[in-house]
Amino acid sequence: MCGIVGYIGHRDAYPIIIKGLHRLEYRGYDSAGVALLDKELKVYKKAGKVSDLENFVKGINTQATLGMGHTRWATHGAPSDRNSHPHSSGNRKLTIIHNGIIENYAVIKEALLAKGHVFKSDTDTEVLIHFVEDIQNETGLELREAVRIALTKVVGAYAIVIMSTDEPDQIIAARKGSPMVIGVGEGEYFVASDATPIVEYTKNVIYLNDNEIAYIRRDDLLIKNIDNTVQVPYIQRLDIQLEMLEKGGYEHFMLKEIYEQPRSIRDCMRGRIYPQQGKVQLGGLKEYADKLKNVDRIIIVACGTSWHAGLVGEYLIEEYARVPVEVEYASEFRYRNPIISEKDVVIAISQSGETADTMAAIELAKEKGATIFGICNVVGASIPRTTHAGVYTHAGPEIGVASTKAFTAQVSVLTLIAFYIAQQRGTIARNKLIEYLTELNEIPELVEKALKANDHIQSIAAKFKDSRNCLFLGRGSSFPVALEGALKLKEISYIHAEGYPAAEMKHGPIALIDDEMPVVVIATKHSSYEKVISNIQEVKARGGHIIAIVTEGDTEVKGMADYAIEIPQTAEPFVPLLATIPLQLLSYHIAVMRGCNVDQPRNLAKSVTVE
Ligand code: F6R
Repeated sequence: MCGIVGYIGHRDAYPIIIKGLHRLEYRGYDSAGVALLDKELKVYKKAGKVSDLENFVKGINTQATLGMGHTRWATHGAPSDRNSHPHSSGNRKLTIIHNGIIENYAVIKEALLAKGHVFKSDTDTEVLIHFVEDIQNETGLELREAVRIALTKVVGAYAIVIMSTDEPDQIIAARKGSPMVIGVGEGEYFVASDATPIVEYTKNVIYLNDNEIAYIRRDDLLIKNIDNTVQVPYIQRLDIQLEMLEKGGYEHFMLKEIYEQPRSIRDCMRGRIYPQQGKVQLGGLKEYADKLKNVDRIIIVACGTSWHAGLVGEYLIEEYARVPVEVEYASEFRYRNPIISEKDVVIAISQSGETADTMAAIELAKEKGATIFGICNVVGASIPRTTHAGVYTHAGPEIGVASTKAFTAQVSVLTLIAFYIAQQRGTIARNKLIEYLTELNEIPELVEKALKANDHIQSIAAKFKDSRNCLFLGRGSSFPVALEGALKLKEISYIHAEGYPAAEMKHGPIALIDDEMPVVVIATKHSSYEKVISNIQEVKARGGHIIAIVTEGDTEVKGMADYAIEIPQTAEPFVPLLATIPLQLLSYHIAVMRGCNVDQPRNLAKSVTVE
């Protein structure tokens, strides 16, 4: 949600910033802007994409070795040129970019208006930089101290970068609740909301902690806490390769990421399963093996696609580890005084590791004494740093805004966790575990096979690309897969789609079915097969069009369905990993045929750092 990039050093800042903004564009794409400080301060900003900004700036002298840029996902103020970042103070000396929300901005703005401040935008960000200016005017303090005092007075979440024409050898960066990474080079520093704009220049990074402020000069970095105590920075090595951030010949990041799944699932399982010994090993949870052995209840908190993965986890953990599981929307959980105790284990799932609601749910559960585990993709993000323990998904950077490989990696980790807990509690026989793990080990190859249906799926997509609605049905662990299929379709193609447990259809949604309604049914040969067949017949009887996801070799459902897509035969716990693949491809092709921006769907952002 909003991308931030800044540079101070000896190179030309503008190309670094623009390239960084392109990398960060998945975080928000309502508007973009840059500020460059050479002899004078130059600010350019534009509603629209980073490429619109680039066209706007074309031909202008952009030389500077200090600068910053921003790509925005609008919170306060509609997307427009004037609401775009950077924002400047009234005296035009200070400039800021900001990710997050200043909750008490209205009170501060009122006080500043009374003092004669004039605002050019509707944003909370502009209020913050005027506030810093006002503190300087009132106290004569240097910028560092004025920024620190301002930050002690604001309520909300922020990652900010500030520059001043009075101090052309410094940028100030700070974070609270929104991510900020500092790249450490030779006589140069980079700041960004995630490591993607930094990785090609340096692999040495510092993740700023909440309430820390970094004062960065070309040859010096000082990090202090908001209470003014000096912090010792911890420099980490990044484990991201540049190729991971590029499309590698695919038309879209989403397609690349769909095709990466055999690899990402394999990476997720590497070193964690030992089929011949019937053993799952999760280093991240090792210390908590006893806790898991005796746990009475697990609560899963997450949002969106990650919440769907949590629902799959619920089926798997209850089935194999026999522990009751509740799956909660983090945004609801945090506001409803949930009953939690020290005995509970809370699992927070988040691709980005930055989702504000999930963070808040973790804080709440922590306060109540629960043990918190994270399932995250982005190494070093806020959530893995705040949980007691966790398991990384190792899917690699996910750039397409619609989550694909992160979902199957989350489901893979949850499958491992279910078996891990089952192993601790003795709820699964060793020979059964050997059988399952042997099959799980084959899943990357089976995903590869499922991907081969791509052309067939593309031809089905052509038939339904103009649909206005679509239903997705599934039973058991295929129900969350249906929810995820519906979410994928709606978010990238803007077709209204709903996911339902197949049997629930007759309690309402069946009223929607007519000869214009495509119904995607997950009808693999597993425990609910016969029941799903009945549900298919109910749809057929009302003229609906069935697109069935079936097990390879199936003839019965194939005979009934208008279109069938085969997935390889697998054991029941692994159906979600395979059945997801054709649904991702179907949504992708429909969206492409409708001319939608698949990688950056309207109104969305990859990492939702506001509630
Ligand atoms: C949908 C999607 C979102 C995210 C949700 C949570 O394709 O990506 O629904 O799953 O915003 O994000 P994370 O997993 O980063 O917490």
